[in-house]
Amino acid sequence: MFDDTTNYSNRGNASVGTEDVQLPFTVLTAADPPEHTALRTRLLKSLAPAQLRKLTPKVEDIVNTAVGALPNSGRVDLYADYVRFIPAAVVYALIGIPKPRWHEVQEWSDGIVRVIPEPVHNLPEFASLNGFLAQLVQERRAHPEHRHEDVLDNLCFAESGEVEMSTPEVVCHLFLLVVAATDTTRGLITNCLFRLLENRSQWEAVVADRSLLPNAIEESLRMDSPAQFMVRTALADVTLGGCSIPAGKKVYLNIQSANHDENRWGDDSRTYRVDRTSAAAHLAFGRGIHTCIGAPLARIEARLSLEALMDAFPDIRLDAGAAWVKCAGALVRRVESVPVWIRGEEVRVG
Ligand code: HEM
Repeated sequence: MFDDTTNYSNRGNASVGTEDVQLPFTVLTAADPPEHTALRTRLLKSLAPAQLRKLTPKVEDIVNTAVGALPNSGRVDLYADYVRFIPAAVVYALIGIPKPRWHEVQEWSDGIVRVIPEPVHNLPEFASLNGFLAQLVQERRAHPEHRHEDVLDNLCFAESGEVEMSTPEVVCHLFLLVVAATDTTRGLITNCLFRLLENRSQWEAVVADRSLLPNAIEESLRMDSPAQFMVRTALADVTLGGCSIPAGKKVYLNIQSANHDENRWGDDSRTYRVDRTSAAAHLAFGRGIHTCIGAPLARIEARLSLEALMDAFPDIRLDAGAAWVKCAGALVRRVESVPVWIRGEEVRVG
């Protein structure tokens, strides 16, 4: 289904209800070709390898500040006290949101992400965030002489061959980035930390040999897919795996289930293994023309966040009472908290 853009459309994929919100323009994630191609090419300009190379020192700064804020001893929750702010800060830097507003934007955005995939447009946080983004767009466009290398400039000022976007169109794409980049990437980093610490020999193996880290991250994406499903609409009557899907029906693509499929991954598909062969063949970032545009950035964030923590606190231990509890909400799979002891004051039983 990810690959088949003839029989399945992305239109209306932001909502699981039958009523789709109608917009007077197309947003990347809900677009089909050919509109999708032009929108994706435009956004890719801000996420191309050269841009990511320039962004990496900022990611390092954000991660180092977060590690530096951790205490040298005692019990902390690695989600609330470490991971939570990292992906938010990174995407705000990428967009060009002024730093003094980061915390406020995060509060609004978290209020919205908690509710997705239920409708969010009546939330006060929705109005506040979009109002603020619209103001940023107006301010940017008022000063075309001051250019920046960020998403705001990319979307506010069309280059030759590109279309001029209206303010609501730019705002919708900024909103999409904020929502798509934050809780998913938090999920990746938090889940990976929990799985490694839960089975300490795997944590120790990666601390000792950092070349294992990229596969540990891919295996985390497979084991606990941060975006658990996507939605498509059938464009024709289709039959798949013996199941009839009438035209016009919405279909869930269950990513988490595909990534645990015993036929694909073997009998230990529900076990986290840092040495799993071909873990990177998971579907956590989707596949085909809509494959996650931020996947390279999410991988950079995960690697730097885990490395910095391993450098600073290699002896960190999971609290004896820690349990895997999924955060609220249907879409995102993230363990709610990762309580740990810094400097090993309490040893995990078993
Ligand atoms: C671990 C973190 C992430 C996961 C698991 C994830 C997952 C996904 C998935 C499954 C899709 C495919 C949607 C579809 O098929 O309809 C997608 C698309 C997308 N993602 Fe991510 N994502 C992550 C991080 C990010 C980041 C960091 C950004 C931005 C910087 C981002 C921006 C987007 C956008 C804009 C799309 C739409 C692409 C398109 O429709 O062409 N994501 N993501």
